[in-house]
Amino acid sequence: MIDQDAVAYTDIHSHLVPGVDDGARTLEDTLASVERLTRLGIRKILTTPHLDGSLTKDPKALEARLNEVTAAWEIAADAIGRDFPEVTFKRGHEIMLDVPDVDFSDPRVRLAGTTFVLIEWPRLHVPPGTVQVLERIIGEGYRPIIAHPERYIGIDRSLDVVRQWRDVGARLQVNYGSVFGRYGAGPKLIASHMLKRGWADYLASDFHAQSQSKIYFKEISVRLESVGASEALKSLCMTNPSRILRGEDPLPVPLLLPEQLSGRKSEECSTSVSPRSVRHSNYSRPK
Ligand SMILES: [Fe+2]
Repeated sequence: MIDQDAVAYTDIHSHLVPGVDDGARTLEDTLASVERLTRLGIRKILTTPHLDGSLTKDPKALEARLNEVTAAWEIAADAIGRDFPEVTFKRGHEIMLDVPDVDFSDPRVRLAGTTFVLIEWPRLHVPPGTVQVLERIIGEGYRPIIAHPERYIGIDRSLDVVRQWRDVGARLQVNYGSVFGRYGAGPKLIASHMLKRGWADYLASDFHAQSQSKIYFKEISVRLESVGASEALKSLCMTNPSRILRGEDPLPVPLLLPEQLSGRKSEECSTSVSPRSVRHSNYSRPK
């Protein structure tokens, strides 16, 4: 079936289901957020409430949580369908891997029911064994997308661990705001290096529905269009994210030149992350 809306900008990471996590608190928050996104030109929204991966090991607790999210999402979807009929509104989860053996078998935890899963490591640290965890997830037939890899404390300066994640088949989603320093100088620089290497497969908002917060989509689209990187913009914000909704793998993204991201040509890959932060936290496994 042909996707009639294949050229729409698509956002695959946000927290717009009302009252279920640290994003939208009310339906009004949700609708105000959708209005802002549509004004920016985003017409497909795949929203991703937080889910602790350890919950998937407890069928009763998982069912209760998924029922709670489903009920809130359905109320939001009805209102969005009424007020913004041009918007496609889907859901998944951002799953924190607080245990290494998360069970992704319930399609409701995955992105729009596909085999894609949006994952994050706990507490913004990279625990030991991430490559093996990714290999296991992929071996079970799921396609992991790592949320905002640029934000993790402990990413080494050569980005070796990020390279290993990609080499085993994980995909990477960078936040719009990281490119503009929203999370500090370290994530900004790492985001820039991943984009320059063509390692980012998707850009997304990770918007938490705060009325006072910038979304940074306009900034990224203006920056990339103004420096002749329209194809990269299209790949990162339109083609690849919308392919997720069809269960399709991302296509290669055109490399970005240093000056296309920063206007400066001499940035080196170094971060403000201290050597201590490279030490790993452990998974909080139940005893
Ligand atoms: Fe998020």
